[in-house]
Order: sequence, then C-alpha cells, then structure tokens
Amino acid sequence: ESEHSLEHQRWSFDGLFGTIDQAAAQRGFQVYKEVCAACHSLSLVAYRNLGAIGIGEDQIKAIAAQYNVMDGPNDAGDMFERPAKPSDKFVAPFANANAARAANNGALPPDLSLIVKAREGGPDYVYGVLTGFVPPPAGVTVPDGMYYNAAFPGHQIAMPPPLSDGSVTYADGTEASVHQEAHDVVTFLEWTAEPELDARKKMGVKVILFLIVLTGLAYAVKRKVWKDIH
Ligand code: HEM
Repeated sequence: ESEHSLEHQRWSFDGLFGTIDQAAAQRGFQVYKEVCAACHSLSLVAYRNLGAIGIGEDQIKAIAAQYNVMDGPNDAGDMFERPAKPSDKFVAPFANANAARAANNGALPPDLSLIVKAREGGPDYVYGVLTGFVPPPAGVTVPDGMYYNAAFPGHQIAMPPPLSDGSVTYADGTEASVHQEAHDVVTFLEWTAEPELDARKKMGVKVILFLIVLTGLAYAVKRKVWKDIH
C-alpha cells in the first residue's frame, strides 16, 4: 500500500500551466532552513539561486553570511574558514556521511536537493512522509529510535517527526500548521529539484501561441495564393 495509497495534494506547479508559487517556496525555504537543515543537506543549491524564488540580493547575502565554509589554500598554503558568500552552495549540517549517521542513530538523512524527483510519488510522497507520523496499527511494535510512518516504505523511519504546528513563524502571517509547513517545504523542494520548471513551462506556452499564430498566417497566405484557382 505505502507509496501507492498517497493522497494527491493540489500543487501550484501541477499541470501544463502550473508554476512555482513564490510565496509558498519562500515559506518552504524558511521551513527547510529552520527545521530540515539541522539534519539534511541541500548540496545542489547555492545561496544566490534563491533569487529565482524572489528572495532579494541583500537578504541572500545576509543568509549566506550566517554560515561558515572552508576555503583555501591561501598564499601561505593554509585552509581557512570564512563566512559563506552567495556563490557558495548551501552549507551541509554534517562534515560527512559518517558524522551524519553518528548523529542520527546510524541512519543517513538523504540530501534533499532532488528528493521529490528521486522517490516514487514525488511531491505527494514527501508531503506524505512529513504528515504521515501516525500511531502504529495494533500489534505493530516500533523499535527505539524508529517512528511509524504511513507513507515511508516499510513504515519504520529513523526520522523523528520534524514538523509540528508552529514549528516556524511565517513573516507573511500564514498560519503554520503541519499541513501548511509540509506543503510549503515540498513546494520549495520541487523548485530545488527542477529550478528550470517555470521557464520551461512559460517557453512551452510561448511556443504553442507562436504555432497558433503561424498556423493562422499560413492559412491566410494559402487562401491568398490559391484564391484564383477553384
Ligand atoms: C528521511 C524530509 C527533517 C532526519 C527523510 C525522508 C524525507 C525527509 C522525505 C525520507 C527519504 C527517503 O525516502 O529515503 C525531511 C524534511 C524535513 C526533515 C522535508 C524538514 C521539514 C529532518 C530532521 C532530522 C531528519 C530535523 C533529524 C533530526 C532524517 C533521517 C532520515 C530522514 C535520519 C532517514 C530515515 C531512514 O532512512 O529511516 N527526511 N526531513 N529529518 N530524515 Fe528527514
């Protein structure tokens, strides 16, 4: 049942004309930054990429500067730590996979950059995991450090329920229910997984409009060229 019984959610990016809802993606970034980033890296995204979901340059600089990255070697041949810049990739919570496992009961929190593309069920699956922490059915025991989850394959997940009502306080006043937080962070993760989606769909619409105009023009020309031949 697991990944096949997922409830389909309504997403701004559904369908031919769907695009990323920027306000939702910005709220989702806040959820990632304040909750998920404690355990999950987002290694394919650079701070400056946040410009694409409407976050301003100054804010991006300020966000990047909250993190430190290793750089170097400098002229003396030494590595050194410096504040991150907009051109740096998101700084990971752990130095490597061993450190990540050590902090998570042996389980590895996967990088989230492509998670909505990498799993069957896509955005509905990730939403399903985030909202799927339910009491185990009668007779099912869950070992220490594991949690019962309706959407996760096998139903036993090493991730503690990350979201609760009010996990974040949204600047735009949106009420931060678990549903809202999950929906927003999935919208953000859809963007990280497919940052070119909006441009691609907009180009698709332009191509179709162009073809419609071209068809009309071709027809008009055909009528004119052949008008004396009956
Ligand atoms: C697994 C998302 C927060 C630790 C997962 C999975 C998803 C996910 C979708 C399942 C991946 C799969 O199918 O393989 C998120 C999101 C978060 C969040 C969106 C923020 C809202 C956290 C936090 C922690 C954590 C705060 C650590 C306290 C883990 C671990 C796993 C995992 C250890 C692996 C579970 C296993 O393989 O059994 N996460 N997560 N996550 N997450 Fe999170």
